[in-house]
Amino acid sequence: MAGMAILKTSLACLLILLSYNHANASPVIGGAQSVLAQEALREILNRGAPILAQINVVSFAGFDEGCSRASKACDWMAKVPDSTRLVHMNLPGTHDTATWNYSDATQAALLRYTGPIPPASVFRCQEHSIFQSLNAGIRVFDLRYAYNPGNDTIGFHHSMALLAPTTTLEDVLFGLYSWLDKHPTEAILVSMNYEGGTGTANDAALQAHLYNIFQSKLAKKYWVQKNGTLGTLGQARGKLTLLQRFTYTLLPPTSTRRIGIHLDGSQWTDNGAAIQIVYNAAQNQVAYIEDYYYMELPTDAGTALNVQWKLNATLGHIDEATRTNEGQLYISFASASHNDAVPPVFPRTMALGDEMESLGVNQRLLPWLKKRKGKRFGIVMLDFYNAVPGLVEAVIGL
Ligand SMILES: *[C@@H]1O[C@H](CO)[C@@H](O)[C@H](O)[C@H]1NC(C)=O
Ligand SMILES: *[C@@H]1O[C@H](CO)[C@@H](O)[C@H](O)[C@H]1NC(C)=O
Ligand SMILES: *[C@@H]1O[C@H](CO)[C@@H](O)[C@H](O)[C@H]1NC(C)=O
Ligand SMILES: *[C@@H]1O[C@H](CO)[C@@H](O)[C@H](O)[C@H]1NC(C)=O
Repeated sequence: MAGMAILKTSLACLLILLSYNHANASPVIGGAQSVLAQEALREILNRGAPILAQINVVSFAGFDEGCSRASKACDWMAKVPDSTRLVHMNLPGTHDTATWNYSDATQAALLRYTGPIPPASVFRCQEHSIFQSLNAGIRVFDLRYAYNPGNDTIGFHHSMALLAPTTTLEDVLFGLYSWLDKHPTEAILVSMNYEGGTGTANDAALQAHLYNIFQSKLAKKYWVQKNGTLGTLGQARGKLTLLQRFTYTLLPPTSTRRIGIHLDGSQWTDNGAAIQIVYNAAQNQVAYIEDYYYMELPTDAGTALNVQWKLNATLGHIDEATRTNEGQLYISFASASHNDAVPPVFPRTMALGDEMESLGVNQRLLPWLKKRKGKRFGIVMLDFYNAVPGLVEAVIGL
């Protein structure tokens, strides 16, 4: 009997594997197995750090950065009723999430993998980490994957920019699961797509690897299992919801299980200002997407005109979300890419303007959203969200 009790105790320790003490940042310690589990988690989060956050793996400091009792954004979904449909919510997201620490120094350190490529400012779209973003209220992440060097693990890229050669998708998912354990009222949406332009293969092994991640025991606990439709906040709390931008083209015909919604990349028109993707024909569920990222302007157009064109597309789309199709999903990208305007315009210039000439999309978005507080905006994907204080709160409607 005593042996049984000990067995049960160590099983219980295994079950609290990878969970934290909610009251403070220090990990729960109790029993040899949980010490092992804690050390394993430290190692995983350490490997995930280039994408997750600068975290002190001894104290876990950084995990909760910016998440104080005074911060309304940290657990903002706690106040939203369970019955609220996700398509009715205002969800701030980060476009090209994984680029937050991509600098010329990072690029130089990875030159042996990528060879010479354009400067980091062409690829960089964020400057706050995933944990910082979560604590600031961001709930949608845009993760672009492809093989890491060696073609054995799945990593993160923005076009030809490799972002972190030893961080795996699994590491980053563990980070998200850990955060959710501490913030069980919150729901996170994860958009995933295969990143082109990386020189890597989107082969059967890559697709099977992904499929198996979503089949795993952990996925069944931490990902919303519903297929083909978005439910309520109550159903999504404490979990990740998949926005599947990739398509399984090479899976064996027996691998039919799906979760989340499929935003088929082949219908996601490049540079589209008004994309419509039917993700569930039987229930007539449509995603309305604005992803107009490249302004087709002459090179002498300058920042102000580029920003104006981008705003026109984004505000036009969000305005539609406030007025029509109330049961359908809206996704508006406020982000834009590098273009060869003279002087050149980078994602940062589009989001924040240039000191000389004009405001960026983010500064101009803020008052526009504030004026419409209480309306449905849907998902709004941002670049450099942190540089304009109050922007995330304005998207949420706090
Ligand atoms: C961010 O990039 C710098 C420069 O490459 C690097 O020294 C630092 O370790 C990176 N931070 C993380 C969390 O990976
Ligand atoms: C990885 O895949 C790419 C593209 O298919 C190929 O060019 C490269 O040689 C592969 N690398 C390894 C180490 O297998
Ligand atoms: C998942 O949902 C989609 C959209 O409704 C549907 O086409 C597909 O057959 C479903 N797949 C599975 C495996 O149930
Ligand atoms: C502004 O957006 C509307 C759609 O909302 C589009 O029809 C029009 O062409 C856009 N104008 C510019 C200058 O981008």
